[in-house]
Formats: sequence, C-alpha cells, structure tokens
Amino acid sequence: MEKNKFVLVTGGTGAIGSAIVELLAASGYSVYIHYVHSESKAIELVDRLTTQYPAQWFSAHQFRLETLTKEDLSFIFELSSVVFAHGTTVYKEFGETSFEERHSLFNQYMEGPYLILKLVENQLRGGSVVYIGSIFGHLGASWEAWYSTMKAGQIGMMKSLAKEWATYPIRVNMVSPGLIYSNIHQHLSEEDITLTISEIPIQRAGLPEEVAFAVRFLLSEDSRYITGQAIFVDGGWNLLG
Ligand SMILES: NC(=O)c1ccc[n+]([C@@H]2O[C@H](COP(=O)([O-])OP(=O)(O)OC[C@H]3O[C@@H](n4cnc5c(N)ncnc54)[C@H](OP(=O)(O)O)[C@@H]3O)[C@@H](O)[C@H]2O)c1
Repeated sequence: MEKNKFVLVTGGTGAIGSAIVELLAASGYSVYIHYVHSESKAIELVDRLTTQYPAQWFSAHQFRLETLTKEDLSFIFELSSVVFAHGTTVYKEFGETSFEERHSLFNQYMEGPYLILKLVENQLRGGSVVYIGSIFGHLGASWEAWYSTMKAGQIGMMKSLAKEWATYPIRVNMVSPGLIYSNIHQHLSEEDITLTISEIPIQRAGLPEEVAFAVRFLLSEDSRYITGQAIFVDGGWNLLG
C-alpha cells in the first residue's frame, strides 16, 4: 500500500482514467480527479471514494489543458505523481483533418502535459509521471495519423524527461494500451471491433483495470529502478508490428 501519496489523474472520468482512480484509491492513494465535461461522474466518484476511504483525499477539478494557468492547479497542496489519462482522437483520412482538430490533439497530448509538468515539477521530486500512450504511437495507424503522431511525440517527451529528471529524482514512464473498451472507439462499427480483436493474440479487447494495474506498478516502489519505459497492455497486439 502506497499510503498518503497524492496523485493527479487527468481524464479521471474516462474509462481508463476512472479505472486508474478506483485502483489507486483502493491502494491507499489520495487522488485529484481531472475532468472536462463529465462533472456528475467526477462528483459521484469523489463522493463514493470519500465514503469508502475516509482517511484519503479525493477532489474533482475541471480545467482545459489547452489554456492551463497556475490558478487552474491551485487546488494541489501535496503531490507525488501525475498520470496523464485524458484525451480524444480524430478518425479521418490524413488530408481531411482540420487545423482545429490537429491543434486540439497537439494541445491535449503535448502542450497540456508540458504546462502541467512545468508547474508541478518541484512538487514531484521523489515521485513519478505515467503517460497513457497508445500502441499507435509506436506503430502508427491509418485514419488516425495525427493522433498517432501526438502519441509518438509523447514517447519522445517521456524518454527525454526520464533522462533529464532521473537524478531529481522523478521517474517517467508510459503504459501503451491496445484496444480497451471505452467511448474513444465510438467511431468504430461492431464489425471493425471484431476484425481488430481477431488480430490480437489474446483474442479479446482489454479492460480499463488491466491498464490501471500497470499504472499502479509504475507508481509504486516496486518499479523504483524503472524509468523511460513503455509497457504495452495490448494482449500482444504490438507483436504483429
Ligand atoms: N481505449 C483505448 O482503446 C485506448 C487505447 C490506447 C490509448 N488510449 C488512451 O487512453 C486515454 C484515455 O482514453 P479512454 O479510452 O479512457 O477514453 P474516454 O473514456 O473517452 O475518456 C477520455 C477522457 O479524456 C477527457 N477529455 C475529453 N476531451 C478532452 C480534452 N479536450 N482535453 C483533455 N481531456 C479530455 C474526458 O473527460 P470528460 O469525461 O470530462 O469529457 C475523459 O476523462 C487517451 O489518452 C487515449 O489515447 C485508449
């Protein structure tokens, strides 16, 4: 149990983010839950977890990563780790994405995490950062070129920070999911999902909590000699290249 450690989880209302929040809460962490639209879900999580784990702290915070300021993070009074579990995709042919869509993805995955880490860097010493990346950041994906490009950019940022901050010490790692049940796949038909699953060695989609298990490991002392790494949670999908 990692008692009395405070973690900021961005996208804490998403399928993966909320599974991370739930598992960290059950493991003794206090959690700041970030959301964008899902206020009622964020409040429900805070109320339920506060009742379940009264000795820990849970609070919900709405802010936009694109326009983040120091005041947006003024709720943080203690922090040991950040988990970036937010974000959307754009599912379109390469030439069809708009300027606004490309910049929204850039702000979500590059600029937003940069602004957060710049503001909390000093509080994180001795702690850890985990990005939720994507198998597509490693392998690329047709019809999700810009999303995949930003996810690849996150790998570069993760590895660079792991080197730059190793002696602070702050460890920086990534969990790269494959196909996990969530709203992010709303654009896919049942047929697309069945076809994708047929390509995955373990022959099923992953569950959000299976991503959360890897996050918990990377935040814990059990991973104290690991930095700059991406762990695939994808049922072996990346092995097909
Ligand atoms: N599901 C998968 O198969 C899969 C695979 C690989 C990687 N991932 C990655 O996992 C992360 C979470 O995805 P998910 O599957 O959990 O998706 P999800 O269920 O749709 O959750 C998305 C989360 O991002 C937040 N969000 C929405 N718009 C945002 C914006 N403009 N800026 C910042 N945050 C925003 C949402 O907040 P509200 O609820 O308040 O709107 C929500 O908390 C993403 O980075 C995604 O790329 C997912």
